[in-house]
Amino acid sequence: MDYFIKKIISLLKEKTSIQEDELEKLIEIPPDLKMGDYAFPCYSLSKTLKKAPNIIATELAKTLPIISPIVEIKSIGPYVNFFVNKATFSEMVLKKVCEERDCYGSGNIGSGRTVVVDYSSPNIAKHLAVHHLRSALIGSAIYNIYKALGYRCVGINHLGDWGTQFGQLIVAYKKWGNENTHKSYTVTDLNNLYVKFHQEAEKDSALEDEAREWFKKLEAGDSEAKALWQHFKDVSLKEFQKIYDMLGIRFDAFIGESFYNTMVEDTVTRIKEKGLTKISEQALIVDLEPYNMPPCLLRKKDDATLYATRDIAAAEYRKKTYDFAKMIYVVGSEQKLHFKQVFKVLELMGYDWANHCVHVDFGLMKFKDGKMSTRKGKVVLLEDLLIEAVERIRKIIEEKNPSLENKETVANDVGIGAVIFADLSAKRNKDVVFDWDEALNFEGETGPYVQYTHARLCSILRKYGGPVTTNIHFELLKEDETVILIKNLWRFPSVILKAAELYEPSLISNYLIDVCGNLNRFYNAHRVLSDDEELTKARILLVDATRQVIKNGLRILGMHAPGQM
Ligand code: ARG
Repeated sequence: MDYFIKKIISLLKEKTSIQEDELEKLIEIPPDLKMGDYAFPCYSLSKTLKKAPNIIATELAKTLPIISPIVEIKSIGPYVNFFVNKATFSEMVLKKVCEERDCYGSGNIGSGRTVVVDYSSPNIAKHLAVHHLRSALIGSAIYNIYKALGYRCVGINHLGDWGTQFGQLIVAYKKWGNENTHKSYTVTDLNNLYVKFHQEAEKDSALEDEAREWFKKLEAGDSEAKALWQHFKDVSLKEFQKIYDMLGIRFDAFIGESFYNTMVEDTVTRIKEKGLTKISEQALIVDLEPYNMPPCLLRKKDDATLYATRDIAAAEYRKKTYDFAKMIYVVGSEQKLHFKQVFKVLELMGYDWANHCVHVDFGLMKFKDGKMSTRKGKVVLLEDLLIEAVERIRKIIEEKNPSLENKETVANDVGIGAVIFADLSAKRNKDVVFDWDEALNFEGETGPYVQYTHARLCSILRKYGGPVTTNIHFELLKEDETVILIKNLWRFPSVILKAAELYEPSLISNYLIDVCGNLNRFYNAHRVLSDDEELTKARILLVDATRQVIKNGLRILGMHAPGQM
């Protein structure tokens, strides 16, 4: 807890009958510096004291003693407002940032506990779709957020690599694909085979039966079926990996749906033994009518298992393997019902950890200029999107700063960063409209803007040249713009906590926009490097701390922070 809040609580505890933890929840940060640094609302006291909150506030403000580091207490309306010693405050904040460096913002509330995060999870033999990209970015940010809080994180790519469609693909491949040119096969080729299969199956329904046969063979471990399926998987993974590498996205494990093939039988047996199953139209289901949901399908009439069955088996396996405190599925909103059903079945199976499973959903990503949509049946690939972002940034750098060192790396960091930031800056359940000009704008609320602000701070520090020290006169950091920025830096740890609680990386991107705005207001109003040695030293410390916070925030979002741009 904040050292100042502790002091304020100790004062309030003596004069009110409210418990410490209750007081902590009540204390607010006023929106305006003029209203002090902390405020205590008196509404909750008004019932017990049978007085108007304004009156209580006035009386309390008079009776509370003023002890260091508090310098003033006054009532404003129904609030008691506390003003703290600015120098003490700045010293506490800036020393903490400088001591903790890359760890500033982190915590240890998660120590000894595991969080499983399931993200991206695309389907093999198809291109990585935009929602798999969103899932990957949101998921890895959430992973980083929880990691920063001390949790052991396990990031899993739950590949969609099982299901009857692979029977169809095998049939198509054997009939129209060239089995001898394995190596040159791409995801696009596999996609085309799917299309061909469906066209042909409309004319000849026997193909569907053949496909079912092949999937059965695959499920039974037939070696030819397995080899083909493995080939489809290899081709797909190679393409996915290229995009993950471009984005810097990592997983601790790729464990696809196929992995659970040998476990689903037992899972289904357990569900049956609990008396939860029914046969409906020859399919095995869990009736969820009492919970106002459609039934959860476990087995089709041809005995094949389904997406949900494999998710239930996967949940059991993950609990056994990782003993998670929380399991987070980062999957688009269109699967809300699926996860509600899966979690309900887990609960009905008697697993008390069912309510430790969370579906973190998100909206669509749309493209303003119509890119990425299917144009003449051709999908613009994610890879092209990323390459174009880098290309556009490269052009801007070429124009603005042609002599920049490491142009390639910087263009890459900023281009990719722009896409990541654009994706993570709106609340996740909102749809995102990706607009090139907006996302790449160095002056908007964008990744390039945050990275550019960071690079400018690095450049000030280079110009200064000397070592940064916390041995400064903190009372020199006194102007409003300065204090507002320092207060902003102080909020970082609590922003991370809130982002974890709400599974909301946008809190961090919005926070960074705030910090950059405050930094720029500070920078425009005050000279950092001047003849006044002591003042320069003090402001340099603030510049360095701000640089550190921006860097730490970007890292959590999965972005690089180049030192020059
Ligand atoms: N493969 C699925 C899809 O593309 C997403 C899987 C999400 N994860 C899960 N455990 N169901 O729609």
